[in-house]
Amino acid sequence: MPRYRGPDTAGRTDKMSKEEIRERFDREQASCYSQRDPAWLPELNYAFDLVPRLIEPFVRQGGEILDVGAGTGNLTRTVLRCIPGAHATLIDFSANMLAEAPNVLAAFPGRFRTQTADFMAYDYGRARFRAVISSFALHHCRGEDQYLDIYRRIGGSLSRPGVFACCDVVAGGTPALSSLNEESWIEFLRQREFSAEEAERILSNYHVEDSPLSVSAHLDLLRRAGFGVADVIWKKANFAVYAGLVG
Ligand SMILES: C[S@@+](CC[C@H](N)C(=O)[O-])C[C@H]1O[C@@H](n2cnc3c(N)ncnc32)[C@H](O)[C@@H]1O
Repeated sequence: MPRYRGPDTAGRTDKMSKEEIRERFDREQASCYSQRDPAWLPELNYAFDLVPRLIEPFVRQGGEILDVGAGTGNLTRTVLRCIPGAHATLIDFSANMLAEAPNVLAAFPGRFRTQTADFMAYDYGRARFRAVISSFALHHCRGEDQYLDIYRRIGGSLSRPGVFACCDVVAGGTPALSSLNEESWIEFLRQREFSAEEAERILSNYHVEDSPLSVSAHLDLLRRAGFGVADVIWKKANFAVYAGLVG
């Protein structure tokens, strides 16, 4: 398995457009994304395992789960493994990433379906899902208005009671706190034997490709979108698991 390096965006300061992001994931070696313990993400397995624990009370009687920006199905794999009988719909606008999902989810035949769709335009429907999950995808939203719009769509798609659980990169509450978080990430990457140049490349791409918000901004937006409860479950450096509950 090749070591993850991410795109080379050195010297670039403007954010990638949605089309550039789709093309980047359509070019990506999708199998690189389905590693069980990717070297560049701190405590990923611990963070992912929190998601089925969060949603299990909502889906134990059955019902559909939606994975937004599902990629190759990494988070769905964790959920289907931990919740017998759960069924998931995976949406992503990269057909290349979704094409790897049947391999990643080969142990769960008949328990998932994939759909190529832009999560900013997808018809989420009303009260269709017991749980909506997402990992490392919503940070492609640009600005609070786009996040709020997605959170409203997700909230409307949930039956009551319902849950939204998200594992993603987050900013700090100030630029200085973001820098502190990012320094911790760089230290982690260096401990995992990424060279200084590789770590810098990953961080520089993060700045160009991702537009994370702070945890407190996410929780405010979730409440504004109609989630009665919004909370952070786990955070380390610039990574977090947060959730919103309805009904
Ligand atoms: C970093 S990958 C994460 C994939 C997967 N959730 C995981 O944790 O391994 C981000 C995914 O979000 C998808 N994505 C980004 N913007 C999207 C959009 N507007 N609509 C649908 N998918 C999108 C990309 O195609 C990519 O597969």
